[in-house]
Amino acid sequence: MAIVIRRLEEHDEVESFDCGDDALNNYLRRHAWTNQEKSSIGVSYAAVDEGAPRTVLGYFTLAMASVPRDAFPKKYVRGLPPYALPLILLARLAVDRRFAGRGLGHALISEALRISLRVANEVGCRCIITDAYRDRANWYAQYGFVPIEGAAESGPQRMFLDLRTVRAALRRGAAMARRGT
Ligand SMILES: CC(C)(COP(=O)(O)OP(=O)(O)OC[C@H]1O[C@@H](n2cnc3c(N)ncnc32)[C@H](O)[C@@H]1OP(=O)(O)O)[C@@H](O)C(=O)NCCC(=O)NCCS
Repeated sequence: MAIVIRRLEEHDEVESFDCGDDALNNYLRRHAWTNQEKSSIGVSYAAVDEGAPRTVLGYFTLAMASVPRDAFPKKYVRGLPPYALPLILLARLAVDRRFAGRGLGHALISEALRISLRVANEVGCRCIITDAYRDRANWYAQYGFVPIEGAAESGPQRMFLDLRTVRAALRRGAAMARRGT
């Protein structure tokens, strides 16, 4: 499979998408295109195989958002003004279960981070947040997402990832590659 990740397109085949979660299936089938093209409240990116470039195998949705400063750990917002923090919301991310466990989730979240870094270079936004299903929180944690303290005990777990951390890690990686270590 040669996977390409690009913006959702109008004639993409989404009806057969099944990640095992009705809300995430339904969002892709019924709302993603309208929210992107008509309402401008979320842009979705689709992972497709070059061999069947209309069939969506996985997707994620990004939107701008802001969260009250008090929602973050104190040490994280020390020195910041008392405004809500501007950030990017990773609103949805899902992989068709027929293709799970093959690295598609990794490819999708990596692309979401790349896009977020590009946006953060042009528009002020400090971090990326997501409301993760509790049983997926460890999956996000492996990418550096940290639970926001005081989040409700039930329902989704709000998690954030500081984009400066991602940028610093990429710089370190690039420096190591230049040194050949
Ligand atoms: C979560 C999801 C996106 C992962 O996609 P995927 O393509 O299967 O992920 P990848 O193949 O990139 O990664 C799989 C790895 O993550 C691990 N993993 C999967 N779920 C995990 C979890 N809940 N906690 C920790 N690790 C997890 C797997 O063990 C595997 O590890 P390995 O690479 O060492 O074998 C996918 O399972 C999915 O769409 N689930 C249904 C929708 C959903 O829950 N979306 C998230 C909403 S918050």
